[in-house]
Amino acid sequence: MRIDLCFNPVDLDELQLRDKNVVVIDVLRSSTTIAVALSNGAREIIPVESIENAVKISGSLFGEVTLRGGERNGKMIQGFNLGNSPLEYTEAMVKGKSIIFCTTNGSVAMHRSRFARHLAVGSFVNVSTVVGFMKAVNSDFLLVCSGRANAFSNFSLEDAVCAGMMVHKLSQEESLNLELTDSSLAAFALHKTYGRAILKMMKNADHGRYLIEIGFLEDIKLAAQVDSYPVLPVLSGNVIRLRKDEGGS
Ligand code: MLT
Repeated sequence: MRIDLCFNPVDLDELQLRDKNVVVIDVLRSSTTIAVALSNGAREIIPVESIENAVKISGSLFGEVTLRGGERNGKMIQGFNLGNSPLEYTEAMVKGKSIIFCTTNGSVAMHRSRFARHLAVGSFVNVSTVVGFMKAVNSDFLLVCSGRANAFSNFSLEDAVCAGMMVHKLSQEESLNLELTDSSLAAFALHKTYGRAILKMMKNADHGRYLIEIGFLEDIKLAAQVDSYPVLPVLSGNVIRLRKDEGGS
């Protein structure tokens, strides 16, 4: 089982990801928000690449069974029902709803990975469930860290540490015959350095500091809680829904 990892999804194109097994990671905050929304009964999340597409897709159903959620610069987009704070995605707000989801990095990475054979959405809040799924599939995987558009390196420490935690958990399973690429080894090393103080790491990371500045410290605290939302969001036919079992079929 070969685990490869992409720190910077900007250059990934849809064709490269076709038929691959992919985990998309956007700890702050898209992956975390999706786990919370689906745990709270959202019917499905539809990741899109642009605000224009979000508006087009939600069309005439907007406001009834379909909500628009997402952010630009961390804040709710004008005309949307929800931002990208997991705390907004309460049962009262999302139960039974389809959510057209448009964020700066996370939904773009998910949309670009839509032709993958398996695509799971991972973060600290569901890390063990995602790893359980990877073990069950028992085939090569690409971990896609969503990163940070507009930053020079497009690197997100929290995504890399979360990916490293996945690699760490997989490496404890001797039967897997794991092969790690340089990038997955690097994430593994970052997890060794930062994995014991996740909240502190996130508070000091670039995007964590920005979110605190604009008033979202509570989101970071929620996102740091390992395995607090043990669900498996998977994409199939352009929509992300909960997968009930962790089997690989
Ligand atoms: C993104 O997709 O870029 C993020 O989830 C941004 C955010 O914190 O809302």
